[in-house]
Amino acid sequence: MEYKISLIPGDGIGPEIVGEAKKILDKVCEKYGHKFNYEEVLLGGASIDACGVPLTQEAIDTAKSSDAVLMGSIGGDAKTSPWYKLEPSKRPEAGLLAIRKALNLFANLRPAYLYDELKGACPLKEEVIGEGFDMIIVRELTGGLYFGERKTVEENGVRKAIDTLTYDEKEIRRIAVKAFEIAGKRRKKVTSVDKANVLDSSRLWRKVVEEVAADYPDITLEHMLVDNCAMQLVHNPGQFDVILTENMFGDILSDEASMVTGSIGMLSSASLNETKFGLYEPSHGSAPDIAGKGIANPIATILSAAMMLRFSLDLDEEADAVEAAVQQVLKEGYRTVDIMSEGMKQVGTKEMGDLIAERIC
Ligand code: IPM
Ligand code: MG
Repeated sequence: MEYKISLIPGDGIGPEIVGEAKKILDKVCEKYGHKFNYEEVLLGGASIDACGVPLTQEAIDTAKSSDAVLMGSIGGDAKTSPWYKLEPSKRPEAGLLAIRKALNLFANLRPAYLYDELKGACPLKEEVIGEGFDMIIVRELTGGLYFGERKTVEENGVRKAIDTLTYDEKEIRRIAVKAFEIAGKRRKKVTSVDKANVLDSSRLWRKVVEEVAADYPDITLEHMLVDNCAMQLVHNPGQFDVILTENMFGDILSDEASMVTGSIGMLSSASLNETKFGLYEPSHGSAPDIAGKGIANPIATILSAAMMLRFSLDLDEEADAVEAAVQQVLKEGYRTVDIMSEGMKQVGTKEMGDLIAERIC
């Protein structure tokens, strides 16, 4: 089959890790007889440098015309990069939020999975790890606090900043449906996370999630307050299957969940709209401190490419092959520096990409 893929290398380690993911996709094409036509799209700091803004209409149009988008990471060092001297709406992160909105990518799936081979990197005690854990965070991505009206004003010489948190029932329903659908293919449990003891938006969230749950009688629904969830993730992570939550809570909890797995360098993500289209990116950021050093872990981006094969292109066998190749390389003891432990073989970004590519069969 022939597909059009938009590639967004972005900033920091982005170009290095996207290069390795492309290497893997090229190998998949060779082995399975597909053709991927790539088109590069500018986003974030790279777009600011080339076009003066973090996202252009041309970039949106190119992304929209493709079957899927694979992205590295965007952003730089907030203390030293000139991008952060610009007003907030012109900074790299604004480009990422804008492309999510423009492509209607309301469903962000962030798996957090503990690899047997990386148990040593998990910061939790063995008795807490137990049998390990395998959860997926389903984060609402185009609503809530990150997209509400905001302003900073001065009243009687006192500076005041206002952000607004809004959800309507349609936005809640469509993300809840995604979470229940995903849970149906997993261990059939949804934990909906909110702050219903304080926020109206959370009280509506809870009601709508319960209405959706009525259509999925075989799936267990539980509600959990976000502060408790933050605790439970380090106290008993094995209890979670699908965590369904709103934009800001999902942003925070997914970073926590990824840290608990031992390496944020391993975690993929998918951002989907109502159709099969999606944008795939690692859960980690652009790590400007190690950019260009050839040491970044490309696995999260490679696993994001596998998610792209599975969700947007319906190439399940190919996705399985990529995931198996990653597992095999870990089993053989190869590690990038972020997941390195005693007795293992340390490799750089390119070498890790080569090793995985060689094992795709
Ligand atoms: C993420 C990031 C973004 C977000 C930032 C860069 C805007 O933290 O993808 O989690 O908050 O969504
Ligand atoms: Mg985040």
